[in-house]
Amino acid sequence: MLDLLRARRSIRRYKDEGIDPLVIEKLREAAVRSPTSRGINPWRFIFVADKPLLDDLSRAKEGGSGFLKGAGLGVVVCAEEEKSDVWVEDCSISAIILQLTALSLGLGSCWIQIRNRMHSPTRSSEEYVREILGLPETMRVECIISLGYPAETKSPVPAKDLEFEKILSL
Ligand SMILES: Cc1cc2nc3c(=O)[nH]c(=O)nc-3n(C[C@H](O)[C@H](O)[C@H](O)COP(=O)(O)O)c2cc1C
Repeated sequence: MLDLLRARRSIRRYKDEGIDPLVIEKLREAAVRSPTSRGINPWRFIFVADKPLLDDLSRAKEGGSGFLKGAGLGVVVCAEEEKSDVWVEDCSISAIILQLTALSLGLGSCWIQIRNRMHSPTRSSEEYVREILGLPETMRVECIISLGYPAETKSPVPAKDLEFEKILSL
């Protein structure tokens, strides 16, 4: 696990190839193995491989989401808000588990924040994504994880740059 964490970087450029269905099956399993508060599992995951849909979703924000159109897969991480008061935490945990599982399977990925972001001055990114995917208003959208075989390489963050001073040992 530490080796994975050392290698982990956000990857936003992907090869133009579909993701192996067996790999997608493992990602699906990783998503629903994520722990949740009280085991409520309020999350829903929408696996999007359809190119026109990825293109639409890549416009969820004015910046920071455009690269989704070049991804092999986007996983929309959302939740039924009324099911759990800590749905944000539950979604966040599942999103990072998806990213680390993807890395272990040879994929690159990047988190695209949707909650608390705007599509335009008058419309939230959540509203935009809900409309594109036909989701009900009760469904909250935390983020989209973009995934694909990496077309860029990034160096690990050097150990000397890690902020160990932010850890207090008592
Ligand atoms: C909660 C969260 C939200 C993020 N939102 C975005 C985003 O909307 N678009 C984007 O390109 N990257 C996004 N990122 C990726 C960060 O920019 C990235 O993790 C950070 O710059 C550190 O780079 P690294 O992941 O390569 O170590 C997000 C990451 C987190 C954890």
